[in-house]
Amino acid sequence: MTSADFFDLDIDLLEPGPWSNLGDWSQAGSYQEACRHLAERVGKAAHLNSGNLVLDIACGFGASLDLWVSAYGAARVDAVEFRPSCVSAINQRRTAGAGKAVVGDMRHCWKDHPFPRGAYDAVISVDAAYHFGSLRPFINLAAETLRPGGRLAFTTIMRKPDATAPLLLKMALRLARVNTQHMYLQNDLTNALAQGGFDHCNIEILDTQVLSGFEKFVAQLSPVVFNPRWWQISGTARLCRSLRQAYHYVLVSAERKSN
Ligand SMILES: C[S@@+](CC[C@H](N)C(=O)[O-])C[C@H]1O[C@@H](n2cnc3c(N)ncnc32)[C@H](O)[C@@H]1O
Repeated sequence: MTSADFFDLDIDLLEPGPWSNLGDWSQAGSYQEACRHLAERVGKAAHLNSGNLVLDIACGFGASLDLWVSAYGAARVDAVEFRPSCVSAINQRRTAGAGKAVVGDMRHCWKDHPFPRGAYDAVISVDAAYHFGSLRPFINLAAETLRPGGRLAFTTIMRKPDATAPLLLKMALRLARVNTQHMYLQNDLTNALAQGGFDHCNIEILDTQVLSGFEKFVAQLSPVVFNPRWWQISGTARLCRSLRQAYHYVLVSAERKSN
């Protein structure tokens, strides 16, 4: 399985649709609804407004790109995604003026990215930043592309103070393409954002809404034991439970400092 294939979760086993994230289960009745609710939370934290220019990082199949336009009135949404198949599907279905989607890997500094500097009102990433390793390249890209006063909002996993992750948990996270060497404590995260040119940083803990919600949702599904894709989903649900020993699932937002 290539790195890109790994992210092709079999969503049909949960509920077919364009979204693929852990979801916000506080008021959702179905998987796709929970995914949309999580994105809406991130959109609100980014203070999205009508006419905004938005950059969406790790957009999957691009359901969020449509949401920023339909729910918040964004004028144009550009996007980055690791999987080429997602990017071609997005570019095939969108009209030219809607924005461009490009293939990119946020684990690396991206000096020659094609996005305009200092132009975006918001940079957003829904349920992906924990795959990026160090957050520095992601924060740098956001700082470079946002206008002064523009907003960054994303969800990720953050280390709990005074908690040590058991080796088994670290190994399970590595299998899930999450590098625990780059897990931040709250102070580290705030400092990384401040050093990257952000202030007004806010961190909201969403363990119950996201981690417990996804775990409980999967627990009430009928297992599809002969499908290896099912074991990937049920492993993710178990990981959501054990993750809470040492980590929080958080929504982070911050504002690009005025120069
Ligand atoms: C859980 S999915 C979320 C997708 C989408 N944001 C949504 O809410 O439906 C995580 C996404 O992050 C992308 N991704 C993982 N590692 C990445 C990286 N290093 N650079 C860019 N995108 C990455 C995956 O391909 C996947 O589409």
